[in-house]
Amino acid sequence: MQKGEFLYEGKAKKIYATDQPGLVWIEYKDDATAFNGLKKGTISGKGELNNKISAYFFQLLAQKGIESHFVQLVSDNEQIVKKVEIVPLEVVVRNIAAGSLAKRLGLEEGTAMQQPVVELYYKNDELGDPLINYYHALALGLATREEMLYMEEMGLKINAILQEYLRDKEIILVDFKLEFGRVDGKIILADEISPDTCRFWDAETREKLDKDRFRRDLGGVEEAYQEVYRRLTGN
Ligand code: C5P
Repeated sequence: MQKGEFLYEGKAKKIYATDQPGLVWIEYKDDATAFNGLKKGTISGKGELNNKISAYFFQLLAQKGIESHFVQLVSDNEQIVKKVEIVPLEVVVRNIAAGSLAKRLGLEEGTAMQQPVVELYYKNDELGDPLINYYHALALGLATREEMLYMEEMGLKINAILQEYLRDKEIILVDFKLEFGRVDGKIILADEISPDTCRFWDAETREKLDKDRFRRDLGGVEEAYQEVYRRLTGN
């Protein structure tokens, strides 16, 4: 497959066309941003690690019957994915209070939820991705009720699969964000699943193995991402 013209640059990835209709070429970058782009930096090796970790999770989910945009890895920091129309909603699933949920509800970080929490955020950089509900999403025409119900159901299913899988790797899945895309009249999982988009804690020490190390200036960011990759693959 050939890498085609440059199409789009996001905060963590660049997208190029390919010579195959319906497929795009994604390059994962080392650039890191947090707090809606207010904090910027680079994490050496991040592009490569997130590319491989995302591919790993998408392949794991495919084995469990969850379809995603992932097609194949093409280099250390590049993968081919199906071209989709991204639904402008972020689906966040949480098992343990952290980040914005801990703040919003006045919970101590680390408080276990009595059941998983699913939230929808409006994907809009200018507004800082606000938390919204079905009424907002329907009023703005962001997605249909059926699409939202489906994405939430998929979020919970993915949560159950990843939680169980990561438990064996001594990793607690605190929370994560998913994005979905429309293609051929259906909705499939898109974007990435990586330490940039999930909170992973070491099961024993509760040490953070994710982007919170960058957000909170804890140091050891690259090492934490590497540790996640090592626990998943043994490499
Ligand atoms: O910041 P907050 O607590 O709402 O984040 C919840 C989860 O969603 C975290 O795992 C975070 O990494 C992820 N997230 C993301 N992209 C965003 C917002 C949150 O990947 N724009």
